[in-house]
Amino acid sequence: MDFNQSAEDNLFDRARIIGKPHVRIDGTLKVMGCAPYAYERHDVAADQLVGYPLCATIAKGRITHMDASAARAAPGVVSVVTTLEIEPLDRSENNVARLFGGDKIAHYHQAIAVVVAETLEQARSAAALIDVSYQQEQGIFDLEAAWEKLDNTGEPLSDVGDVDAAFQTAAFTLDEVYRTASQSHAMMEPHASIVDWSDGGQMTVWTSNQMIEMNKQALATSFNLDPDTIRVESPYIGGGFGGKLWLRADAVLAALGSRASGRPVKLALPRPLVFNNATHRSGTIQRLRIAADAQGKIIAFDHAAVSHTLPGGSGENPVNQTRTFYAGASRRVAHQPVEMDLPESADMRAPGEASGLAVLEIAMDEMAQKLEMDPVEFRVLNDTQVDPEDPSKPFSDRHYVECLRQGAAAFGWEARNRSPGEKREGEWLIGYGMAGAYRGAPTLDSGARVRLQDGRLIVETDMTDIGTGSYTILAQTAAETMGIELDAVEVRLGNSAYPISSGSGGQFGATSSTAGVYAACLALQEQIAKRLGVEKPRFENSRVLAVDTDLALADVANGEELVAEDTIHFGDFKDDMQIGTFGAHFIEVGVHAYTGETRVRRMLAVCDAGRILNPITARSQVLGGMTMGVGAALSEGLTVDLERGFFVNHDLASYEVAVHADIPEQEVMFLDTTDAASSPLKAKGVGELGICGVAAAIANAVYNATGVRVREYPITLDRMI
Ligand code: MOS
Repeated sequence: MDFNQSAEDNLFDRARIIGKPHVRIDGTLKVMGCAPYAYERHDVAADQLVGYPLCATIAKGRITHMDASAARAAPGVVSVVTTLEIEPLDRSENNVARLFGGDKIAHYHQAIAVVVAETLEQARSAAALIDVSYQQEQGIFDLEAAWEKLDNTGEPLSDVGDVDAAFQTAAFTLDEVYRTASQSHAMMEPHASIVDWSDGGQMTVWTSNQMIEMNKQALATSFNLDPDTIRVESPYIGGGFGGKLWLRADAVLAALGSRASGRPVKLALPRPLVFNNATHRSGTIQRLRIAADAQGKIIAFDHAAVSHTLPGGSGENPVNQTRTFYAGASRRVAHQPVEMDLPESADMRAPGEASGLAVLEIAMDEMAQKLEMDPVEFRVLNDTQVDPEDPSKPFSDRHYVECLRQGAAAFGWEARNRSPGEKREGEWLIGYGMAGAYRGAPTLDSGARVRLQDGRLIVETDMTDIGTGSYTILAQTAAETMGIELDAVEVRLGNSAYPISSGSGGQFGATSSTAGVYAACLALQEQIAKRLGVEKPRFENSRVLAVDTDLALADVANGEELVAEDTIHFGDFKDDMQIGTFGAHFIEVGVHAYTGETRVRRMLAVCDAGRILNPITARSQVLGGMTMGVGAALSEGLTVDLERGFFVNHDLASYEVAVHADIPEQEVMFLDTTDAASSPLKAKGVGELGICGVAAAIANAVYNATGVRVREYPITLDRMI
């Protein structure tokens, strides 16, 4: 089905089930421990062995010698595969790092061997017996030094108007440098796979991955296999945040271990290896200049940034949203990925925007202060309804101003300090901060199959549920479209045997995959109409209704199964507009007057993200984003060992994510909007919007409480002095 633009009024505008607060249909299974994660699939592949990875302890160089004989002779060990025995695996287009094979080491904790044994303990202790010698080379690990040496940040991504002239004539200007930290996804479930490739032919992979088809293709490329010989299953995922978009070493090592041992092998990355072996969000250094006229209208932005990447990667690009968030005739944005020898940086929740808005939205606060304007009013004044770089492109549906106004009213923004440090409760300085949120709303083609038998509908798609609620919203979509009850629908996900979906990422999953299920349901409706010989039937109350026809859906095929499949294709018309999601965060903090300890006391997010498919699951997504934003603001940051080139704090004891005790009352409000340009359901993603701007709102609240302007994350005590 081709999607061009939703009709003025459609099925979903009169929804019974879509848009309603249904609890997760997989929730009971999850809390009962009956939704098995990849490592727990005891029900598949008999005689599983356990693999344990050995990872490099240098950041750059080559292996000169490896002796695995002691490991091979250790109790319970079935096989050992070392990187020297394997030709370098072909890199799929999405993996910058080479995952295995050959003697070259490109980053710390790169996998160099897998030990396969009867038990985890046997595999782990045998891995420690492998003797490795390296020839080490000096790597480049210091982004700060790279930034200082850089005389420009490369070809701008865009350069419109006359930025230099604007800064010369401006009544008010800002020019500051900001820093965001490298971050880890720190998902609860580490990367894990069970692979059965025991005869070296058909490969079956039970894994934890956001993108089934991409994963299958990456496996085919890596091992030079026909993709049709590979089956991938990932029905339940314990968090991904972008860290599980790609094929990683867990699946590769389990596959090699399975081929070597002739038995299925399961392997999970131990937590201390996740941080350096897998991917992370690169830290950034950003110089941001803003120019405004005497009335507070922005006339120019100049945003330049660096981030790090392994050779060939793109790094964290934090400047893109500066192109379109606010009005202003002139702007230049540039991002220079700096090639360094740190572990692989790649996408993490709201890649780019999360780090970019963490900076832009502090800068907006600083500008408002210079202008002596309310930060809310400054943003309202600089709203735009068209792409400022190309005014012929409108925003399809943008309600940023309503987010700001409704948020300010609901939060009680009026009660904030007019100048910093005015409000005190005992030893605590109290401050309010706010920031804008902005994230694109992309869509990808997405397919699904539906099976109808005796009035019950099964939905099959290779879409994943990474904790986001896909099972629930897809069931809601199918029930709504087919006019049946929610409990008459069963959703099956995360299997390469099902039609190819968008997968989960880039906040495109909910919008794209529900549209795909809608398309498949329409194909089924067409089939039923043809079968009954009726025109334009309606599907309501589990019945098919047409002129002279009123039949229970359960009776349309006399017990036979009807199967229909389709893929939604999103039209090119989207290129002629900007489709985005918008929000505003309002936050209250307390900063201890003597220790500098910061406690977040209250958080409110107001979101404009089109039709909200399910207010419960959408709210959970935004709460998750807000919580991750607290970590980004106050505690999360991977610390680089500048001598040896690795992240020192590579476990959850030293990489500090926000926990329950860090999180106060959180409130989420959704504007009642629909975006007809986005999808047949007029919905947009919300999972990444939730983190955008949160860190800046906290930084601004800290300033409001104390008068200390911190321009470097995380805002730890030492940076408050
Ligand atoms: Mo997202 S960072 O594309 O999973």
